[in-house]
Amino acid sequence: LPRAIVSPSILAADFACLGDEVERVLAAGADWIHVDMFDGGAIAGGNFTIGPPVVAALRKRAPGAFLDCHLAVQDPAKYVEAVAAAGASSFTFQIEPFLDAHTAQPDAAKRCAAAAAGAAELAAAIRARGMRAAVAVAPATGVEVVMPLADAGAVDMVLFMTVNCGFGGQSFQAQVLDKVAAARRAHPSLTIQVDGGINATTAALAAAAGANAVVAGTAVFLAPEGAAAAIGAIRGALL
Ligand code: DX5
Ligand code: ZN
Repeated sequence: LPRAIVSPSILAADFACLGDEVERVLAAGADWIHVDMFDGGAIAGGNFTIGPPVVAALRKRAPGAFLDCHLAVQDPAKYVEAVAAAGASSFTFQIEPFLDAHTAQPDAAKRCAAAAAGAAELAAAIRARGMRAAVAVAPATGVEVVMPLADAGAVDMVLFMTVNCGFGGQSFQAQVLDKVAAARRAHPSLTIQVDGGINATTAALAAAAGANAVVAGTAVFLAPEGAAAAIGAIRGALL
């Protein structure tokens, strides 16, 4: 299995001192920094968060950091160039806009295939700009939609959302773990990430289902015990 990756989400950081917050969690042992870039639309749960200029500022402040950018946006292709230029390490996009583009297709299998083809094209463009490409799946979206992408090696990671995109501090949706387990059975060495409601307890559940990478916002940035203890406990749950 690929190594355990803990990616604190800066959505839970104090934006008024974001550089310091990122340095704080990197010093506390964060593997990646998760950047929730939401466009305010339906796919983002209505929340409008961070754009490429903030990624560029973080890149300047933390030159060696792995910036794990999660774009819950209606038109991800539109931002590949700007996100790459800003210095993102990886670009994760939601699959749902690609499914929405084919709602006219009544055949479910054909609809999945058409969505996967569009997503594969985007993933190729992301890689061509030197970033890792990843696809994210909302809690209500089936795993079969992203399987073709993983099967084809078109993506470097699959993110199973364990909450609906939008806001930090929501409750972990355990039913998503069935999808994690199915993806892990099919792909022993794929990087499988979960995002939403993750703490040491839910990270252990996710890891048991097969996830090796977790995003945690509230549990790291707002940990009363401090970020190092929180990250340590989450990593311990993954190992
Ligand atoms: C959910 C975001 C998450 C969020 C996680 O909309 O994609 O990355 O920041 O926050 P917590 O860990 O607080 O659930
Ligand atoms: Zn996220």
